[in-house]
Amino acid sequence: MSAIESVLHEQRTFPPPESMAAAAAVSGMSGYQALVAEAHRDYEGFWARLARENLTWHTPFAKVLDESNAPFYTWFADGELNASYNCLDRHVEAGHGERTAIIFEADDGKVTHVSYADLLQRVGRFANALRKLGIERGDRVVIYMPMSIEGVVAMQACARIGATHSVVFGGFSSKSLNERLVDIGACALITADEQMRGGRALPLKSIADEALAMGGCEAVTDVIVYRRTGGKVDWHPGRDRWMHEIAETQASDCMPEWVSAEHPLFILYTSGSTGKPKGVQHSTGGYLLWAAQTMKWTFDWKPSDVFWCTADIGWVTGHSYITYGPLAIGATQVVFEGVPTYPDAGRFWKMIADHRVSVFYTAPTAIRSLIKAAESNAEVHPDRYDLSSLRILGTVGEPINPQAWMWYRKHVGGERCPVIDTWWQTETGGHMIAPLPGAIPAVPGSCTLPLPGILAAVVDETGQDVENGQGGILVIKRPWPAMARTIWDDPERFRTSYFPQELGGRLYLAGDGAVRDKDSAYFTIMGRIDDVLNVSGHRLGTMEIESALVAHELVAEAAVVGRPDDTTGEAVVAFVMLKHACPVGDEAARIARELRDWVGKEIGPIAKPKEIRFGDNLPKTRSGKIMRRLLRSIAKGEAVSQDTSTLENPGILEQLSTLAQ
Ligand code: WT7
Repeated sequence: MSAIESVLHEQRTFPPPESMAAAAAVSGMSGYQALVAEAHRDYEGFWARLARENLTWHTPFAKVLDESNAPFYTWFADGELNASYNCLDRHVEAGHGERTAIIFEADDGKVTHVSYADLLQRVGRFANALRKLGIERGDRVVIYMPMSIEGVVAMQACARIGATHSVVFGGFSSKSLNERLVDIGACALITADEQMRGGRALPLKSIADEALAMGGCEAVTDVIVYRRTGGKVDWHPGRDRWMHEIAETQASDCMPEWVSAEHPLFILYTSGSTGKPKGVQHSTGGYLLWAAQTMKWTFDWKPSDVFWCTADIGWVTGHSYITYGPLAIGATQVVFEGVPTYPDAGRFWKMIADHRVSVFYTAPTAIRSLIKAAESNAEVHPDRYDLSSLRILGTVGEPINPQAWMWYRKHVGGERCPVIDTWWQTETGGHMIAPLPGAIPAVPGSCTLPLPGILAAVVDETGQDVENGQGGILVIKRPWPAMARTIWDDPERFRTSYFPQELGGRLYLAGDGAVRDKDSAYFTIMGRIDDVLNVSGHRLGTMEIESALVAHELVAEAAVVGRPDDTTGEAVVAFVMLKHACPVGDEAARIARELRDWVGKEIGPIAKPKEIRFGDNLPKTRSGKIMRRLLRSIAKGEAVSQDTSTLENPGILEQLSTLAQ
């Protein structure tokens, strides 16, 4: 196989604003390079220093990295700590109890402030209640809850008593919930009566009841229910309990359980594009260290900041950048229950203005849909809102097309805020490649350079480095503290999925294609390796063709897949959502022609879509990722046979199956 070809060349560069660079945790390229050099000189010493600086240890560690059982690495294994102590008690003990930990905004706009002292008490009471139910260190507790203060409390309470939590996103079906409860051998489930999204109450408890009734999870003896709406729920006496009732009778003091740094803090299932979901298992010490350190480096956190990560606690982003990272450093953060489009698509901008948010972290899919909304309705355009409090913008989850990046910078960031494109994964625990805001000049569409201590590289199919300018496979060459430790109950799958023999068995395989720039050595992610197209012998990543399409003024979103073709091997098929209504007939044919020519000019004839299909939307996972494997079936004219239960908007498949241009 030949390497992946890179066809887009981005020229625009945005250096850090001088004032930010001067005050930043990592200041200027020299500051960045000094840290990179420190890690290079003494890898273990570097990580040990960060682990001591960022965390409070109950028992200090002596051993740093143990590679004897690779790829099952351990970090700081003889050290002991507690994640909840690090997120709460130590800030209160340091005199910051009155500081606001969470500014919670409910779906209906109601705002609640919770201080660090309050949060510690709530976590303490609930942790005592869990202990009273007999839940102990090492037990697995599944959390199936809405975005809420209680959701954060539930996670922190598990951490406090050494129980390993596994959060299942509240949008998942009873079948998905059942599979996870069974796989993990949960002893308790924490849920809510209902959740509020976009003005509507949606069930949770009844789905949880269904999941439990499906069987295989008889070990779940306690179901704890947070009362969010007061809606009617079925009750199983002896098994079900109200969260507030079991907590209110408990003392707020709760002795944290001191655990080894290697103790599993949580297991999070990745949706994965094929096969059974993988229960990605994370450690306590290495994970928390990186959640905290990346808050300081990537978001250059300052005590005066108001941080807002819009992810759900059901995803790793919500773990690292809501429940653990911000609390570990004592930050003030916004937690939002609702959706970006309710009551209108100006909600994010209004909330930034209302809470004076200074660091804002969201996903490209949200940005693209808000661009579409803003361009068809001036009322919800970010230009209408006072966004002057912002100083840093972040993005995560998918490649961000340069067009969307530029819009985000201009209209949300007022051309003053660095846009930080953070590449990482559920398995990496925290940020891996990102432009540090006071140090690294940003380039639209590129996640730029690895964080200090992270040895990212681009290799070919045999594990050899490729030259800069050549696309290839993104790998990490050395273990890092926040990396996943295993796949729950399936260590062999951990080894074969992430440390394949083909690459020599020592490189961490991320599964993404990437290219490094010839001059700057910056990384650009080209999409998943499984999605690479082969057109007339040219291997093309999906990201670049999609970015070319999105750069056209009419296009809001695009997804590109390959379809078998007699002459070219594979032909490019593009699924396109326009900023205005989905076109039909002659108009569709005309726009398709225009887009084909456009891609031909932007990239070259090789990338021209043979076929373009317009739709009102694209099929996405519940975390907002485009499901290209479904689109491949549609492009081939096959019936969609894959599991569509993780799809956000199943109705869209039918529309995309027709209307080829
Ligand atoms: C995959 C990981 C990371 C937390 C949320 C997603 C894609 C993620 C970027 C980015 C290009 C990105 C990759 C990666 N991805 N961030 N900044 N640029 N691609 O976690 O569900 O484990 O997904 O998301 O393909 O492998 P996840």
